[in-house]
Amino acid sequence: MKAGQVTVTLSNGVRMPMEGFGVYQIADPAECAQMTEAAIRCGYRLIDTAAFYGNEESVGAAIRTAGVPREELFVTTKLWVQDMSYENAGKAFETSREKLGLDSIDLYLIHQPFGDFFSAWRRLEELYHEGKVRAIGVSNFFPAQLANFCETVAVKPMVNQVELHPFFCQEAALATMQYYGVAPQAWAPLARGKRGIFVHPVLTKIGARYGKTAAQVALRWNVQRGVSIIPKSANEERMAQNLAIWDFQLTDVEMAAISQLDIGHSEISFHDDPAYVRRMHARKIHG
Ligand SMILES: NC(=O)c1ccc[n+]([C@@H]2O[C@H](COP(=O)([O-])OP(=O)(O)OC[C@H]3O[C@@H](n4cnc5c(N)ncnc54)[C@H](OP(=O)(O)O)[C@@H]3O)[C@@H](O)[C@H]2O)c1
Repeated sequence: MKAGQVTVTLSNGVRMPMEGFGVYQIADPAECAQMTEAAIRCGYRLIDTAAFYGNEESVGAAIRTAGVPREELFVTTKLWVQDMSYENAGKAFETSREKLGLDSIDLYLIHQPFGDFFSAWRRLEELYHEGKVRAIGVSNFFPAQLANFCETVAVKPMVNQVELHPFFCQEAALATMQYYGVAPQAWAPLARGKRGIFVHPVLTKIGARYGKTAAQVALRWNVQRGVSIIPKSANEERMAQNLAIWDFQLTDVEMAAISQLDIGHSEISFHDDPAYVRRMHARKIHG
């Protein structure tokens, strides 16, 4: 099986690639289309975008020109905070679908646990039952919040996309996801370059044993503990490097050594900080 085609089976039976390509902060439309097309040609089969990223049209254009049949691709997009209501969720979904130029979306996520996400979820459940989206999920839901959500809703989320990397392992979050049958997906699996991850001595030393880079070791560690990953790179060499993680196996001792790097909190997002919540509500993506 080719690297980008290793899959995880979601709770509803849909198969999702274990590794995908993230397009956050590739804002320039031409660059985003070019990079997404390069990623698909390189072997990525999952593309992770969001209404908030402002690049769904570029992703759609790349899907049309990459020369890979639509059914071989898995496209994720996300509902932004501004549209977190029953009414707006349906409209926002249609807007995303049109921008992407797709008949159906493979995975639609509640981007942030802010706003009236319970009402929005009822609309997502309908979209799912109508066959407009193959799987629905959430993002940035922390353990107690995910438990409350799963205990309340009719259709449990199939995926929870959260920040997961060696400096923020989130074992408790993974245990809760496992309990509810929610597949974990790592955003910022390379810690967005923080803490010198690309030259980190522990990761570099382990990588040297396999002829792999620190980045590849960090990515391999997540998939080996059952977490799907969506690294971003706007560089073709690095995007290929990030996909070349399926031909080696970390030992239990190496896995444990990497988990030791955990600092127990994020240095990127601050979901329990009221000022952060206010900032997210203030980010408008349309009039
Ligand atoms: N749901 C959410 O709230 C949420 C939040 C954040 C991100 N995401 C998703 O997750 C994806 C990935 O997260 P992210 O973009 O924040 O961070 P990331 O993938 O952890 O890191 C991306 C950074 O690492 C660099 N990089 C990538 N591969 C490398 C390599 N092999 N060697 C050295 N440098 C490398 C990239 O630079 P170059 O581009 O120059 O290679 C870029 O600066 C996003 O694109 C987005 O789709 C979701």
